[in-house]
Amino acid sequence: MTWSETEQEKILGIVYKHGSRQTQLLQILRDVQEEFHCVPTEAMVGISNELKIPRTQVQELVEFYSLLSVEQQGHFHILLSDSITDHMLGSRRLMEYLSAKLGVEPGETRADGRVSLGFTSCTGLCDQGPAGLVNGHWLSRLTGDRIDSIVELVERNMPLENWPEEFFKVEDNIQIPGLLLENPIEVGAALRQAVRNGFDEIFEEINRSGLRGRGGAGFETSWKWRYCAEGPEDYNGLPIAGLHERYVICNADEGEPGTFKDRILLNSHAHQIFEGMTICAGVVGAKQGFLYLRGEYLRLRPQLEAVLADRRRKNLLGESILGRQGFDFEIEIYMGAGAYVCGEESALIESMEGKRGVPRIRPPYPVVSGYLGKPTVVNNVETFAAVSAIALYGGAWFATHGTEKSKGSKIISVSGNCERPGIYEYDFGVTVAEILLDCGAENTLAVQVGGPSGSIISGREYHRQLAFEDLATGGSFMVFDKSCDILDIVRNFTHFFAHESCGFCTPCRVGTTLLKNEVDKICDGHSAALDLVGMTSLARFIKAASHCGLGQSAANPVLGTLSHFPDAYKDRLKAVSFEPGFDLDESLETARRMSMRDDAMAHLEQEGI
Ligand SMILES: Cc1cc2nc3c(=O)[nH]c(=O)nc-3n(C[C@H](O)[C@H](O)[C@H](O)COP(=O)(O)O)c2cc1C
Ligand code: SF4
Repeated sequence: MTWSETEQEKILGIVYKHGSRQTQLLQILRDVQEEFHCVPTEAMVGISNELKIPRTQVQELVEFYSLLSVEQQGHFHILLSDSITDHMLGSRRLMEYLSAKLGVEPGETRADGRVSLGFTSCTGLCDQGPAGLVNGHWLSRLTGDRIDSIVELVERNMPLENWPEEFFKVEDNIQIPGLLLENPIEVGAALRQAVRNGFDEIFEEINRSGLRGRGGAGFETSWKWRYCAEGPEDYNGLPIAGLHERYVICNADEGEPGTFKDRILLNSHAHQIFEGMTICAGVVGAKQGFLYLRGEYLRLRPQLEAVLADRRRKNLLGESILGRQGFDFEIEIYMGAGAYVCGEESALIESMEGKRGVPRIRPPYPVVSGYLGKPTVVNNVETFAAVSAIALYGGAWFATHGTEKSKGSKIISVSGNCERPGIYEYDFGVTVAEILLDCGAENTLAVQVGGPSGSIISGREYHRQLAFEDLATGGSFMVFDKSCDILDIVRNFTHFFAHESCGFCTPCRVGTTLLKNEVDKICDGHSAALDLVGMTSLARFIKAASHCGLGQSAANPVLGTLSHFPDAYKDRLKAVSFEPGFDLDESLETARRMSMRDDAMAHLEQEGI
């Protein structure tokens, strides 16, 4: 592309639209990507000049986030989900078909620039797959016929606005509602109650409810808020910048494969989420909040903005909320750009500061030093939705549900081999067996609870309960029946982690790739018993030595299946003695060409190694 003044002006327009703020760098790059179908080098130079930051900082962002690209992508950029449940629904075959019809390979852009294809991690539509994205917008329930129509629309260069609405249609798909979904709050009711009773009283209700974070780790919400509100004045003797400034962030990154419960809360209960954030702001004394929305949920953005506008009109957001002097709070939406690690709260904050999503060294935790170094509460979407319900109906109401250590309910996203995939809400303590019965699963071989980073459960354990004291989960519940090959699942998950590792620490960066290679080798039938020993110690090392939760859980699929399904591995161990995982002689071909040698001495004999 030749760079003209008009293009330069477009870049400046985008930078100005975002207030020329460094923290908006990711948002600026998203807009540039949308405009140019890539982030051209000239744009990076222009942005770095305007924001007065090094060009390398701009470039490293483009290289880090998978929805941004230095390479020119097609006018229509189509990605199909690489998640295991989409595989089971035939996504690979559909990609082959699509690729043949369009005449372009996955990972490439067609010569005329019209279309490019690729795979992406889970799109959050596992209950309505096979799924994908076109220019960042959801494509649901793909079939051969739908692919035919898409190809026709692409070839006719039909703008996305004119594509049939049903191609993008995503349903909430609520199969069993529970405590929260059956008791939605009336707009503003919880906030009015909070203003009437005072935020100290509301805080006590949250404390009484025993609410624990729904993002997976299960940290007690009231503790987090208390730390943020009362936080220390210094950390290790160093003063915390802007002591009186605090932030509230709603984590809507929802990147764990198989999790889509936040999608329906954002789609149909956005008021309740924003209301929970506003109550949190009242408790901790924050003036600014953010909803960090995963890039793949772009389609939800306009309606979320509309809900925010509605709340401003109703004086539920903005200045002097509900007429209370000094109660000012605003919420901004910040879009992610395709990095699973950004769901980790400190990586998310880095991302919001216009940096790569690399998890911070903790402590200090975000409640002490978070966004821009100020005390920050980060909570999951479902946690904020629960906060509103507790503020309205009371902590005791909530605490009568669930178990001793896990109060209330959990919203579960069910996908995989079952009659009725979708959203299920249960009081904590529900067993795996009950969920399997409800969703119409038969001949179940295994259930993956909590996504690839969670636990795999075999038939012997279906009596186990979903609860922080037994099976903790952020919400993913993937069902695999006896037609599935356990090693296909492990392979998919280990590839996912190797792809999503942020690269900051060696045990995870190198370890996840080595683990992926080991699993490939086993799946391809080249492994011996000794490989399993090596793979187990590698997996344990990654778990023990990695810096953040991603690396610490990346080996769970291997370790879990080795312990629950050892025969799946043993059956694949064809070779008796060690077999190399790659062809050493072939890998020296480049060196031979460079030295212009091809005699016998320039070759290695691998047999018998
Ligand atoms: C790799 C990784 C990904 C994560 N992804 C999410 C996510 O998508 N949504 C989320 O709420 N929490 C996610 N978390 C957990 C967050 O770090 C954090 O604990 C959570 O947002 C806190 O909210 P809660 O207390 O309401 O659960 C992730 C953690 C890790 C290590
Ligand atoms: S464990 Fe992995 S994702 Fe986490 S910081 Fe290290 S390299 Fe990054």
